[in-house]
Order: sequence, then structure tokens, then C-alpha cells
Amino acid sequence: MLKLWVVFWQLDFNLMVDNVKDELQEQLKKLEKGEVVPDKVIDDLKRRKLITKEKSIWYSLKKGPEFVVKRKTLATDVTTEHLRSGDWKDLEFKDYNYGAQGQPIAKGYVQPLMEVREAIENIFIMMGFTEMPTNNFVESSFWNFDALFQPQQHPSRDSHDTFFLKAPAATSHLPEDYLEKVKQVHQFGGYGSKGYGYDWKRDEAEKNLLRTHTTAVSTRMLYKLAQEKPFAPKRYYSIDRVFRNEAVDRTHLAEFHQIEGLICDYGLTLGDLIGVLEDFFSSLGMSKLRFKPAYNPYTEPSMEIFSYHDGLKKWVEVGNSGMFRPEMLLPMGLPEGVNVIAWGLSLERPTMILYGIDNIRDLFGPKVDFNLIKSNPLCRLGI
Ligand code: PHE
Repeated sequence: MLKLWVVFWQLDFNLMVDNVKDELQEQLKKLEKGEVVPDKVIDDLKRRKLITKEKSIWYSLKKGPEFVVKRKTLATDVTTEHLRSGDWKDLEFKDYNYGAQGQPIAKGYVQPLMEVREAIENIFIMMGFTEMPTNNFVESSFWNFDALFQPQQHPSRDSHDTFFLKAPAATSHLPEDYLEKVKQVHQFGGYGSKGYGYDWKRDEAEKNLLRTHTTAVSTRMLYKLAQEKPFAPKRYYSIDRVFRNEAVDRTHLAEFHQIEGLICDYGLTLGDLIGVLEDFFSSLGMSKLRFKPAYNPYTEPSMEIFSYHDGLKKWVEVGNSGMFRPEMLLPMGLPEGVNVIAWGLSLERPTMILYGIDNIRDLFGPKVDFNLIKSNPLCRLGI
């Protein structure tokens, strides 16, 4: 059966055409010779996998008009040598590039601490405060501790906490009348106080040290103010260095800057202190404040100040404050009824928070990070 069918088919074919034209072979030959064939044919042949497409790129490199075997350096300047030797005549000069950027100009940079210091200083000035003179890093124990009603056995008066001077180890200039009153109030009290009831030693008060807080400066200023009659209310501030014998770590240095503010007037209350602190800190961008009772030998009541930090999402301690005790103010000669509200904080802490710095040593001291200072913007919006 199959055989028969094949025969029929052949017969049929022979009947339809006289001769067969092999178009496929013709197209392939054309292509081989590089002749043009229609795109449609090429596509058909590609589909039937009879041809494949290959792409070759050829370059031809020839010597250009400026070709040299040895590289020629173009001159940028005419030097005395060129003039002397006369070879300036043959020199080829490099074109000026007017689009090139100039060298960065050497300029000074603002230390972040100094920038924040200035911002805080402006807040104090806006609030009507006057700066106190803070130019004595060396202070006597008398002004740093005794005048502040800080007992002579207090642990912060130990050499583990305070840097005492070897030379000159002691001061010989202390106001005698006032010193006597300070001694009395420590030993026996007075002005409604029982005092500490210990044997107060002048030697201890004469010891020189590097001031541990700028409250020593406030004390001197208040004493000076007390001598001026009639009494006039005052608002004082200072921002300067203090020294503590601390183990240095990521957040502590043995010297740092302290910001201190005080108001001296009749009838001030803790409410006034809270109000002033709210004004001061909200100007610094810290408007959410909380206060925690604390202890300082020279203030009563005393409060630690906390602020909610939106970035860190927690309450951070930002300062210490209080109302100076009568045992401190009355021996100075300030009139009865005059109160002093005061507060202190470090300059480093708000600066670290503002600049997102987590290691104090990058900011201040011998290991300071110069790139941080160089990249510090000249102006900040906010504070
Ligand atoms: N002298 C305090 C300190 O060193 C700060 C302070 C200043 C506290 C004034 C109360 C009043 O931390």
C-alpha cells in the first residue's frame, strides 16, 4: 500500500513542473559572495538555522599629525632658565584652563564648642545677663569650696577629685573679715543654721587648686556685689573651663567647659528658678524639661534638670541648679531677703547632642578630630 502511494506522488510531481529551480541554493550562494539579499530572506534563513549572524569590528590606526616618539611636556611658565638659555623661543605652552576650579582657600574653622558657646552667650545676653570674669583657672579652696558652705571633709575636696597645686601650694590673699564669718558658719552656724560643728582649718582653705566649677567665680562676684551699697539686683553668666581629676572616657574629660547663670534679687523663689530655666533651655531647643530633687552643699532646694531628647528618644540630664543657701549668702553681707537662683551645665554635652558626636575626645583635647572641625558648617539653623 505505501509503496503504491509514493509512486503516485512522484508521478504527480512530474506532471506539475518541467524543471525545478532551487531558490534556496541561489540565495545561499549570493550571500556567500557578499551580495545583497532581501532582509526577509535573511530572516527566513536565520529561522531555519541555515545561516548565523556574526559581527566583526575593525580599526585601522595610523600616525596622527602630532605623532612623536618621545612625549613632549608643555611649558606652564617661563622661567629665568628658559630666558637665559634662550629655549623659550621653541617652547610650547599649555593652554589656560579657565574652567578649572581654584585651590581651596586656606581659612580658619569654627570649633563646634565655640559655636555653641556663642549661641548660648547670645541667649544669656538676650535675657539681660552680664558676663563674669573667669580668667583665673587657679583658685583657692576658700572661694571654690569654703565660701560655698562646702565642709572641709567633703569627698570632692579630696585629691582623687580635685587637682591641687604644688607651687604655689597656698594663697596668702583672703579677705580676713569675711573668712572669719565663713569659719563661724561652718563651725557654729548662725543666720538660723546649726552649721557643721567641726573644727574649721585655715590651712585647708588656703590650698590652691584648679577650679572645679565656675561657681567659684559666682561666689567671688556675689561677695563683690554684697560690698556695693545700696544693693542692686544682678543677672550674671559665665562660660569657661573647669578641671576635675576624673578617669577619662567617652563622655568625661579632666577639663571641660561649664556654663553658669545666676540671678540675685529680693524675694526670688523656686518658681522663678523653674521659669528662668524653662526660658533658657527652650531658647536652646529643649522645651520639655523635668526637675529632680538633688543635693549640693551650697544650694537648698537643689534640682537636677532633665530634658527630653527627640533624637535619642529619652530624658537626658542637662544641668544642675538650686537656690544658694543663706549660710553662703548672709556671711557675704547680702541683705536679708535677697535670694540667688543659679544653675550650671557643661558646654560639651549640648554640643555633642547637637552635632551627634558620641566621643568627647573627638571634640576637645589632644585627640580632637580635625576633619570634624573642618567640615563644621559656618552657620547652623536652630541654635
Ligand atoms: N556647681 C554645680 C556643678 O558643678 C552647678 C551648679 C551651679 C549647681 C549653680 C547649682 C547652682 O555641677
